[in-house]
Amino acid sequence: MSTRASEGMVSGFSLQLEMFEDLVMPSGIVHHLSTMKTRSVRDDDIFVCTYPKSGTHWVWEILSMVVAGRPEYAKHWQNSAHLDSRTEEELDSLPSPRILFTHLLPRLLPRDIWDRKCHVINVQRNPKDAVVSYFVQHTNQNWVDKSREAAFTGTWANYVDAHIKGNIPYDSVLNHSLCWNRFPQDHPDVPFLQVHFEDLKKDDVTEVKRLAEFINHPLPYEVYKQIADACSFSKLKHAHQHIKDQTFHNQWREGSSGYFRKGESGDWKNWFTVAQSERFDRVYQRTYSHSDLK
Ligand code: A3P
Repeated sequence: MSTRASEGMVSGFSLQLEMFEDLVMPSGIVHHLSTMKTRSVRDDDIFVCTYPKSGTHWVWEILSMVVAGRPEYAKHWQNSAHLDSRTEEELDSLPSPRILFTHLLPRLLPRDIWDRKCHVINVQRNPKDAVVSYFVQHTNQNWVDKSREAAFTGTWANYVDAHIKGNIPYDSVLNHSLCWNRFPQDHPDVPFLQVHFEDLKKDDVTEVKRLAEFINHPLPYEVYKQIADACSFSKLKHAHQHIKDQTFHNQWREGSSGYFRKGESGDWKNWFTVAQSERFDRVYQRTYSHSDLK
């Protein structure tokens, strides 16, 4: 029987996809998902919840520095703290407070997060920019059995179509944003902060301060400025390439930009045709019943 996961593979994914509940997921993480809801967490865990390519590395590093109280890069790539793909034992070895990140929807996450009232941060980005960034990742990252084959080998047009239908790993960005936008209503007593990639671009120091105050780690204003500067696109890219331990870095094609590609807002205009953009907007408007794309 055809599923959205199998349709995604027909559209060009070499990365194995499968359905988990009603969502399309990379097969590699499905075995973690079956026990995810009953996992236990720590009271002081901080959860960074994003759709892939929304600025996860950026916010994760800011939070790591805030918790450390100084602009010093975390030793490892954020993948060391990936709730969806690391084992419980691996995550257990991280010191408190752990800054864990996930691309999952709230309903797939450990119930313990809500019971313990952990701090939850949702990062969002213009969904079209996220689609472009995800396409470049999928066409340049060697995820398939460590072979040279990229995760997606189809065309851009196929990718946009698959994305709009949600036939891609972690399902559609639109569904993801919608579920996270509803989060405060569904969990009014869980501390929750929403951060936008575009706001970070406009005023990173203010966003660093917001993040620090939210997790109850206020710092002198000068330190916010130092952290924002250390987490600027070029410095963060350099740190990931030359300073950090590479253990948890996924393999990208030789010569590709890796996780730090352009770091801009609005690059989608260089990729989407007018027809693709209008179709995306229609689905977006249907999903939200209003249009406020930045
Ligand atoms: P682009 O591919 O558009 O350049 P994630 O960390 O969720 O995978 O998101 C990656 C995206 O965030 C990439 O977008 C990357 O360049 C961008 N990014 C990461 N750090 C950034 C920073 N300090 N400033 C601006 N963009 C950043």
